[in-house]
Amino acid sequence: MVIIAIDGPAAAGKGTLSRRIAETYGFHHLDTGLTYRATAKALLDAGLPLDDEAVAQKMARDVDLAGLDRSVLAVHSIGEAASRIAVMPSVRKALVEAQRAFSQRLPGTVLDGRDIGTVVCPDAAVKLYVTASPEVRAGRRFDEIVASGKAADYAAIFDEVKTRDERDMGRSDSPLKPAPDAHLLDTSEMSIEAAFSAAKSIIDAALENN
Ligand code: C5P
Repeated sequence: MVIIAIDGPAAAGKGTLSRRIAETYGFHHLDTGLTYRATAKALLDAGLPLDDEAVAQKMARDVDLAGLDRSVLAVHSIGEAASRIAVMPSVRKALVEAQRAFSQRLPGTVLDGRDIGTVVCPDAAVKLYVTASPEVRAGRRFDEIVASGKAADYAAIFDEVKTRDERDMGRSDSPLKPAPDAHLLDTSEMSIEAAFSAAKSIIDAALENN
């Protein structure tokens, strides 16, 4: 059983990369951000506050990994709410437990998030830390929104990227940071294709030595 851990900040391109890697190796894929998003959405839908840790933990325990729907959970307001409840240790504990159980699936798994290489799967066979400058990440998000036919404000998106980074990197429980043994992949100057082939070379080399 092989685990590939992929971490990095919001909008760095790790989602697309992780899905392609999972497909290429025939592994199961879990976008762990969706588990935080599903917890946040359950609270929002029930009209419950986002700052009550006991209630949020209960919602986290009830998250069903089989029912995570990216198209519903991708909206910006849910991402924002997710990063707020993700600072709560008991919420993280409940979700990490479910993520670890998933990571054991055969023949292998790809998990992407913020703390996979550092906390969820510290013994992963390969760890990638995928990043890009805040300007590039905001630009990619801007292009995505415009391509979907909606209006977008680059300055506002840039501020949101910075705020999300500060929250994810600054929290005391499982802050976003590269594991000491992670391979750094800065995609600022890379196309998706180039990022994928760089990631694949790193993974192939690591699995060969495994
Ligand atoms: O990656 P995504 O934008 O879907 O994640 C939403 C939020 O969930 C992140 O901003 C982060 O606060 C939180 N998260 C986390 N740990 C993970 C994955 C996501 O704290 N492993």
